[in-house]
Amino acid sequence: MRNIRGQLGVMSLPDLIQWIENSKRSGTLVLSQHASHKKFYFQNGEMIFVWSDKEGERFWSYIENETRQSAIGLKEKFKDSEKLDIPILSYLLNERLVNKDRLEFILTVILKTALTDALAWETGIFEFVDSLPAEVINGPIKINSSRILMDSILQFDETDQISRVSTNHVLNEIMDQIRNGITLLPPLPDIMKRILEKINDKNATVAEVVENITDQLLIAKILKICNSPYFSRGIKINSLHKAITYLGFKSLLSIVTIHSISSFSPKNVDDIRKILHHSLICGMIAKELAESVGESRDTAFLCGVLHDLGKTILTDIAGAYNITAEAKRAIIRENHTETGYLLAKEWGFSDEIQEAVHWHHNPEKADINVQLVTLIHLADMIAHSGRAMDGIGPACSALGLSQDEVMSVVNHLDRLTRDVANIL
Ligand SMILES: [Fe+2]
Ligand SMILES: [Fe+2]
Repeated sequence: MRNIRGQLGVMSLPDLIQWIENSKRSGTLVLSQHASHKKFYFQNGEMIFVWSDKEGERFWSYIENETRQSAIGLKEKFKDSEKLDIPILSYLLNERLVNKDRLEFILTVILKTALTDALAWETGIFEFVDSLPAEVINGPIKINSSRILMDSILQFDETDQISRVSTNHVLNEIMDQIRNGITLLPPLPDIMKRILEKINDKNATVAEVVENITDQLLIAKILKICNSPYFSRGIKINSLHKAITYLGFKSLLSIVTIHSISSFSPKNVDDIRKILHHSLICGMIAKELAESVGESRDTAFLCGVLHDLGKTILTDIAGAYNITAEAKRAIIRENHTETGYLLAKEWGFSDEIQEAVHWHHNPEKADINVQLVTLIHLADMIAHSGRAMDGIGPACSALGLSQDEVMSVVNHLDRLTRDVANIL
């Protein structure tokens, strides 16, 4: 018996199949990646059976569909064939459960699907064993696997290229338009502009800000947020003037931002809501930890609320392109910090905020206020991973935060999540 084993990266799948065919080998080729396995059975270089545990490649699911027999009934038949020592495919033909053309068709489909899938594996191992199990040996079907392999390669290249070309094309177009002239970025909503002006004006009064807020929906939202358990701490607030005095200008700006963003992409309301939900939780966590690291609570809250600003914009922009959900997610994931930074700059947020948006995934690159950016980075990780607190160690030590201090926030994450659900 001869066994060959190796990495798929070292010997490619087309080379393996060609070697089996050209040398007219008999045996079993097993491809494995993580917990997934595929077995290809060859006799004198021709493929006689294929088995895979992946959905869409399972032989018995196809036979169940074809014969309209239950899985249990088919299992019994399989046992019968074993007892009689007849190859399973011959048994299915003898019992007239399926005809030879259909059987050949089914195996070809499974083979093609399994090979196309395995061609995309970047890692994995192969093993060729010079032996065949009794249930497949001398089977009635013989398939020229290199022909099917050619089809699989063509199909793989096509899908790979379509998704790569279109994703790259869309990505370049989006990023080019954003960088050159910022034509795609939405303008700063008027109300935000007016509040930002007041924040920057040291002599501005609450009364002046109140005068600028006339949108009834926004007023209702501000009051609702002020009276939510997280913000109110039991104090009843029933006027806008009281609300702004109580919240402070920066928290007011955070709420106005959430209000403005939640309505700017009507086609992607659910996705935007999810991002805002996460952003608000991140802001609340950052605010609660701010004092312990000597940062302003209001600035931490504002930065937390704004940190994924780029995601909301890219969700809106990428939503207009006909690309896969995975490609959309990749575009958003890989570019939201840069896009958010450009937007924060365009909208005139302070350098400190721009930096927090820009580097919240790489706080070590910050240089204006590394501590604030690290705090947002930490709050973002906690907001994502909750009690698991994945990967927060380095950020905690950089900020000098003890486990108890972090736990005091993590312990009431459920309440924060409930409050946010009420606010949005
Ligand atoms: Fe992010
Ligand atoms: Fe985030």
